[in-house]
Amino acid sequence: MKFNYKKLSLFLLLPLLTSCGSTNKIKYDKEDYRLTMEFKDETFAIEQITDLHYGCYSNIEEMNNFVKNKLIDKDADLLILTGDSFLSATKNIVDNLISLLDEIGIPYAFTYGNHDLQGNYPYYYINEKLMESKVAKFIDYKDDDLDGLANYYIDLVDNDKTYYRLYIIDSNSYYFSNFTYKYDVIHDDQLEFIKEVSKDNVKGLAFFHIPLVEYVDAYNGYKEGKYEGFGDNFEASCIGYKNNGAFDIFKEANILGTFVGHDHLNYSSIDYNGMILSYGVKSSKEIYNDDEILGYKKITLNKNEEGFSLSNIENVFLSYE
Ligand SMILES: [Fe+2]
Repeated sequence: MKFNYKKLSLFLLLPLLTSCGSTNKIKYDKEDYRLTMEFKDETFAIEQITDLHYGCYSNIEEMNNFVKNKLIDKDADLLILTGDSFLSATKNIVDNLISLLDEIGIPYAFTYGNHDLQGNYPYYYINEKLMESKVAKFIDYKDDDLDGLANYYIDLVDNDKTYYRLYIIDSNSYYFSNFTYKYDVIHDDQLEFIKEVSKDNVKGLAFFHIPLVEYVDAYNGYKEGKYEGFGDNFEASCIGYKNNGAFDIFKEANILGTFVGHDHLNYSSIDYNGMILSYGVKSSKEIYNDDEILGYKKITLNKNEEGFSLSNIENVFLSYE
């Protein structure tokens, strides 16, 4: 990652060190994390938006105009924001984006990146706002026993049949050791949750922020011609600090594709041993970006298609001006 996050002052990390959940944690039923949307037509279009990085340094009006008038495909059935929507933001900036998305009116799912809690608001503020929204597809429990602030799934259903399941997962933020930090992973309890939810073997896709360690091998193999894919990576993958078996658990869970953000110059999609490992397309100019790689990922689900393949995914590039 070209941008040197280590130069960010410690105060940015403080909210992470000081935030904590309730001590009396409740185990909710897996059904309590289930949302549904109708899969009425033959296709269902998802727009993945990532790394907007709205912050106190941003020209909010200019960003809002871009999001409203260019970024959002009005034909999308669902928007999914895969993290780092905020960095050094305030309550007003959080309220601004949520109001903007509400005004646009397309249902949207939201998960966290490593930066979303580095702002001037309580750790549960974004979740509270999302759950007040009538447009957001979001559910969480402040007192639950799952790590992270988003662990839920959206079943796309028609006549009681679930055609696809979208797992919206918080891949957490940092792992501290020896006075330095690395990026975190999806924790074991969250993986257990996915195992539990996936017992009915519904075809799934997973959306989170920090790439799995397999993204490195997938890209190397793709460049060697070993794996099919499209797009490219122009920076090293900043993966989680360890391999805790998430990829194998996802495969077992019938998850056919994973969609992440985090590395702003990467936008590849690779078929890696039967699972598509895909980066989103950076959706704003904030922090660092390449103007040629600005836009979103479009994922089109076909109701009666057997599997899920690269042909379901498309990069959409936009010009900012
Ligand atoms: Fe990130």
